[in-house]
Amino acid sequence: CGIVGYIGHRQAYPIVIKGLQRLEYRGYDSAGIALYDGNNINLSKTKGKVEDLKKRSEATISLNGNLGLGHTRWATHGVPNDVNSHPHYSNSGELVIIHNGIIENYESIKKELTNRGYVFHSDTDTEVLVNLIEEVKKTEDVKLGKAVQIALNQVVGAYAIAVFDKQKPDEIVVAKLGSPLAIGVGDKEFFIASDASPFIEFTNNAVYLEDEEMAIIRLGKEIKLRKIKDDAIAYPNILELQLNLEEIEKGGYDHFMLKEIYEQPRAILDTYRGRLLADQGLIRMAGIDEHLEKFLNANRIIIVACGTSWHAGLVAEYIFEDLARIPVEVEYASEFRYRNPVITDKDVLIAISQSGETADTLAAIKMAKEKGAFVFGVCNVVGSSIARETHAGAYTHAGPEIGVASTKAFTTQITVLTLMALKLAKEKGVFSQSKFHEFLTELETIPAKVEKALESNALIEVIANVYKDSTNCLYLGRGYNFPVALEGALKLKEISYIHAEGYPAAEMKHGPIALIDEQMPVFVIATKKGHYEKVVSNIQEIKSRKGKIIAIVTEGDTQVRELADHVVEVPETLESLTPLLTTIPLQLLSYHIAVMRGCNVDQPRNLAKSVTVE
Ligand code: G6P
Repeated sequence: CGIVGYIGHRQAYPIVIKGLQRLEYRGYDSAGIALYDGNNINLSKTKGKVEDLKKRSEATISLNGNLGLGHTRWATHGVPNDVNSHPHYSNSGELVIIHNGIIENYESIKKELTNRGYVFHSDTDTEVLVNLIEEVKKTEDVKLGKAVQIALNQVVGAYAIAVFDKQKPDEIVVAKLGSPLAIGVGDKEFFIASDASPFIEFTNNAVYLEDEEMAIIRLGKEIKLRKIKDDAIAYPNILELQLNLEEIEKGGYDHFMLKEIYEQPRAILDTYRGRLLADQGLIRMAGIDEHLEKFLNANRIIIVACGTSWHAGLVAEYIFEDLARIPVEVEYASEFRYRNPVITDKDVLIAISQSGETADTLAAIKMAKEKGAFVFGVCNVVGSSIARETHAGAYTHAGPEIGVASTKAFTTQITVLTLMALKLAKEKGVFSQSKFHEFLTELETIPAKVEKALESNALIEVIANVYKDSTNCLYLGRGYNFPVALEGALKLKEISYIHAEGYPAAEMKHGPIALIDEQMPVFVIATKKGHYEKVVSNIQEIKSRKGKIIAIVTEGDTQVRELADHVVEVPETLESLTPLLTTIPLQLLSYHIAVMRGCNVDQPRNLAKSVTVE
């Protein structure tokens, strides 16, 4: 979910609505807004998108007021409908809350409050929380800030909340545990948001709350920070943000996803710029340089991630083992954290996360740290929870990724992980200087080669048109391109709702081959380097079962061209760098199919970009 708030001298409504639109990538099942006009709280909420909220609010409530709270939801407790949307009132109507996260013990609290006469209108855990705050406020006779603090000490779960009390109209109380919360500090005004994008055009100064911190934001006053548990005073660290507005707008493209696909040459370049120094024959990465011994003495590397980032982790497994000769295990963060894994202080854990907020990944990090492992983060969002929780790390410099289906985050993650593996290969002495140099110079050609791969866009659109009505698709690859097949299938599933499966090409004969008939499109990555002949024989197996073959091949390929129904070429490169190129046509293909099917590309149903609940 995404939360936004404003208190200051401007009209709150346009700021909150626009902020919600920027945060829609975090969830878009339903949305709501509460505005305080000096006398009343005017509240409007609806199932659906922020655009629906805008229409409803403009038709039904007074939009006046200098204080507002807004919420865009990704449902956890309670179906997405009007009633379950946030903000939620307390029973008296005096308090109003927005919440991102989950209150796990809400049922027992709800029972207790029901016994005391509270009535609940929604199925949400959030409505329970706001009434608990109200109950504490009444029974303990304390002010809002104190009531929030006492209430939060009774709940188990994760939250970023903002609470407003009609009796204290010049303040908003916020608190955080597990879910992100940033406060934008302007001149006599404050902004609250799940990330800085809603307020970036108003201020560059932001305070990121730490876990278990709360803040009282009062007009005309400094922000007061406290620890929720023991009431200790904390001091706000005001950061200056680098983000600019242009980066978070569509810039002439129809969708963020397409813009982000096309940004990849620049994003990859930005990611290795200043790190890869080919002329000096070295790679400079502060996060590794400062902890080199940890990596060199590691028994193994464990990679944890979710979704697309997990696929980048799989590519990294090939790179680290192949180039740096370090054993690697790649784990879904959600499985890893709950299966009592064996972790020692000789392990290095690499957590990969675009948002830096994924709850399962964050929890896996905390667990590994407790067991003594050295934890390294590969994140895109600067200052995110994972970036802060890890011992060291390297940012991808993809820039903000707004489309829910991850594209440039994936290729920049692979870029960072490749730099890491190369650096370690060199430091370990596995690589000769000349081999190292060959990799560095080749890596420098990748942005131009990605640019070249993007030139197939028109051809891919034609192919998309042929297969847009498919109900099932298979994606195959071997070696470095096996994870690319998984990622290709995930992209198609996510945004076009076509069932798609990625498989190691050789495993096809152990199951998926039974599915192949003339209706089944099979996307095969068949680049020259990397088990080419073996992939060609897999293609023959598909062909003899009449499957439709769409192959991603190396420029100038003739052998596969004879067998396949369609081929898309990518430039030649070193085998371990091919995922950076073969991914591109598969992203474009999913994009075009989804557009042709009339799907909402940037905000696919049921998904959220940043999953801050487990
Ligand atoms: C969600 C997103 C995916 C993303 C995954 C992991 O499922 O929709 O695009 O790959 O979370 O997110 P992270 O921010 O940790 O990379």
